[in-house]
Amino acid sequence: MKVHVLGSAAGGGFPQWNCNCPNCDAWRRGSKRFRARTQSSITVSGDDSNWVLFNASPDILQQIRSFPTLQPARSLRDTAIRAIFLMDAQIDHTTGLYMLREHRQPHELWCHALVREDLSSGNPLFKVLAHYCGVNWHDVPLQGDGFAMPGVPGLHFTALPLISNAPPYSPHRDRPQPGDNVGVTILEPATGKRLFYAPGLGQMEPHVWAAMQAADCVLVDGTLWTEDEMIALGASQKTSRAMGHMPQSGPGGMLEWLDQLPASTRKVLIHINNTNPILDEEGPQRQALTQRGIEVAYDGMEINL
Ligand code: MLT
Ligand code: MN
Ligand code: ZN
Repeated sequence: MKVHVLGSAAGGGFPQWNCNCPNCDAWRRGSKRFRARTQSSITVSGDDSNWVLFNASPDILQQIRSFPTLQPARSLRDTAIRAIFLMDAQIDHTTGLYMLREHRQPHELWCHALVREDLSSGNPLFKVLAHYCGVNWHDVPLQGDGFAMPGVPGLHFTALPLISNAPPYSPHRDRPQPGDNVGVTILEPATGKRLFYAPGLGQMEPHVWAAMQAADCVLVDGTLWTEDEMIALGASQKTSRAMGHMPQSGPGGMLEWLDQLPASTRKVLIHINNTNPILDEEGPQRQALTQRGIEVAYDGMEINL
């Protein structure tokens, strides 16, 4: 299975347009210790020619341009994206769909019913898209043995509910329900390889931990380094967990969990917020990750499993 990181930053990207935090400021001043990142999305294939897009970032056009495999040029209008899977209804994971409105048939769109509801009411993206190509919605089951996607050979998907947060336009804001946020295990039956992907993970739960332990690679929430990162900066009143993102450091943080996985598990952080000190490639936080064998995803990163 091939995994291509299209965008590795959290909502806002890096640098964020209006932000002058130490990271964004350093990047604009030309520091070589930081690299720019677009907003959170990956694409995965089992056969190198049919790809599933996980989340549709506002930066999707730039992301597709920088990964030419997604444009095989077999006909006047073409794409290698056979299906789109949305993990939640947040702006950074969905608004890219507007940019894909010229498709010649409805997008094969997989998401939970609660995400579909938000995208049909509070943020009626699916209704607007119906005036263009539209979407052919497939419900994402949270129980059972998972599912295959027509047109995407060689991969099997299992979605699991995660505790994170729902967007401000959801009736479940700050009290998310199962299905508002999902993680996914992608299995390639031919090789037995498994990727676990969860860009928004607010709290560890036994079923999530079991999925992480079963994976060959975990590509997980790397939004913030500390629980009070946004508060300390004066950027927000919310803690990391209240935003739906488990911080990396501190008690019960992501590092404590990742440390318990076998050394053979590839551990990669994604959905990195622009304020996170791990973006400084020469900083002590990045060094702490490297010592633990934890990688930080970057735009264009390829993971072959
Ligand atoms: C999040 O991951 O918490 C959201 O995407 C934030 C946002 O983009 O507004
Ligand atoms: Mn996000
Ligand atoms: Zn910033």
